Amino acid sequence: MKFIPYGSQHIDKKDKESVLNSLSNDLITTGPLVDKFENKISKYLECKYSYVCSSGTAAIHLAMLSINLKKKDVILMPAVNFIASYNIAKIMQLKVYLVDVDDYTGQITPKKIEECIKKNRLKNIKALIIMYHGGYPENLKKFYDIKKKYNFFIIEDACHALGSKYKYKNRLFKVGSCKHADISTFSMHPVKTITTGEGGIVTTNNKKIAENIKLFRSHGIVRNKKKYWKYNILKNGLNYRLSDINCALGLTQLQKINFFLKKRKKIYIKYYKELKNFNRHLSIPEYSRYNSSSFHLFIINIEFKKLKKNKDHFLKYLNDNNIIAQFHYIPIYKFDVFDEKKLNSEGAEKYFNNSVSIPIYVDLTVNQQEKIIKIIKKYFI
Ligand SMILES: Cc1ncc(COP(=O)(O)O)c(C=O)c1O
Repeated sequence: MKFIPYGSQHIDKKDKESVLNSLSNDLITTGPLVDKFENKISKYLECKYSYVCSSGTAAIHLAMLSINLKKKDVILMPAVNFIASYNIAKIMQLKVYLVDVDDYTGQITPKKIEECIKKNRLKNIKALIIMYHGGYPENLKKFYDIKKKYNFFIIEDACHALGSKYKYKNRLFKVGSCKHADISTFSMHPVKTITTGEGGIVTTNNKKIAENIKLFRSHGIVRNKKKYWKYNILKNGLNYRLSDINCALGLTQLQKINFFLKKRKKIYIKYYKELKNFNRHLSIPEYSRYNSSSFHLFIINIEFKKLKKNKDHFLKYLNDNNIIAQFHYIPIYKFDVFDEKKLNSEGAEKYFNNSVSIPIYVDLTVNQQEKIIKIIKKYFI
């Protein structure tokens, strides 16, 4: 019997045709489809500058490079996140402080940021990474207020949140519009809202940052417009470009984004209705009802201790029933690469012990979802 994964891409005939056609173009990289895709993204997100790149990880690296972070610069980031931001910060030899997270959402909160700043007596903070875990944007206004108070850059690791919206002073903004953040980054890995196979996006409204992103993405090269064979290198850049083949897929995927978001929402609502009040030891994180999510993950919290069980037992139980659930993510301080001193992270510990992501993706069928719900409910009997 086939396993039900926790996430997967949706590819249709149009996607396949688009990729195939792109292979007949004169340029299959640095060609016209890159600009076309970037323009469509800027329009969709309502931001000034969008750059596509080879992955969400590359997008975060470009974001950090573009604000000229240097060795020993202080950066704050969530204790629970995919490892990309932490690894990049360490490669850049930044001084990283992990901010504890909320027990249920797994996200940093304004209070936890202030506690981290106070406890470590931090001064001259250069940047804060925010991650909208599962695609649910929370606390944007308060994060923006803290940014203004301490005068640091906000980089949104919005890898889960393409298509999410947040309310600010009675107006809805897209995550990635960069109206209340300096830079946003997205991933187009197959499990994300749209996919380009692998791929990433960086957005900003700041001209200087935009110029830097473009330079760092392609070796720091500037070419003489009249004499194409002449060029200079202005930055120690990389090759983080995304090919036209990937962008061909991105263009047809972006056309379907509203359908993708609607489908994910439908799955979310069914899970919510079925599981919300089903058992006192199972809860679903409550998010702000003013914002709207990309529904990248469906997270459930189970008080395993009270059930005299643990998360591994539950994940194995689901796996034995051909359901691949996941844990997003093991707190960063638990890995061997974490070399700072241990930190007080009550929220991350609780989140780590109790939270599980269950399958949510466009092609998840009603039958499959009903099976997942049934198997989860059976666990509590
Ligand atoms: C929150 C978060 N940040 C960064 C990344 C890295 O993105 P990519 O896999 O495209 O490099 C991911 C990917 O899983 C992610 O979920």
